[in-house]
Amino acid sequence: MLVIGSDHGGLELKEAVKDSLTSRGIAVEDYGTDNGDSVDYPDFAEKVAGAVSSGDVALGILVCGTGIGMSIAANKFPGVRAALATDEFMAQMAKQHNNANILVLGGRVLSVDLAIKMVNVWLDTAYEGGRHQQRLDKISKVEDAVRAGKL
Ligand code: RB5
Repeated sequence: MLVIGSDHGGLELKEAVKDSLTSRGIAVEDYGTDNGDSVDYPDFAEKVAGAVSSGDVALGILVCGTGIGMSIAANKFPGVRAALATDEFMAQMAKQHNNANILVLGGRVLSVDLAIKMVNVWLDTAYEGGRHQQRLDKISKVEDAVRAGKL
C-alpha cells in the first residue's frame, strides 16, 4: 500500500499515476486534492509525509506543478526522504542510493508516460545499502541534533 497526494498543479498526473498503480494491483490511498480548485501544496505534503514519517505507511508519492514545493515541505518531516525526480535514472537512484520513501513528481514538467515509467522503476528498484546507509545515518543524526536543539 502506498499513499499519494497532490495540489491542483499535480492533480491530473496524480490521477494517472494512481490508475497505473491500481492496474498493477498496488493499493493506493489518495489524500487528495480531488478537484482543480487552487489549494496549498503543504497541506497535502503534510498528509502524505506525515503518514510516512509516523510509520503508518512505507511509501508515498507527491505531485505538484514542479515538484519543488512538495519536496521542500515533505522533507521537513523526520525520517522522510522525499526525492524530486525528473527522469528514470533519477527515480532509480532515488531508491538505489537514497532509499527515498517519497517520490516527488512535477505535473507541469513530466509527461504521463514518463512519470509512470519513473514510478515503476522507483518501486521496482532495491535499496543498495552498504556505503549508502552510512550516509543516510548521517542525515538521521543531523535530524536528531536539530530536533534536540543541538544544531
Ligand atoms: C501551484 O501553482 C504551484 O506553485 C505548485 O503546484 C508547485 O509547483 C509548487 O512548488
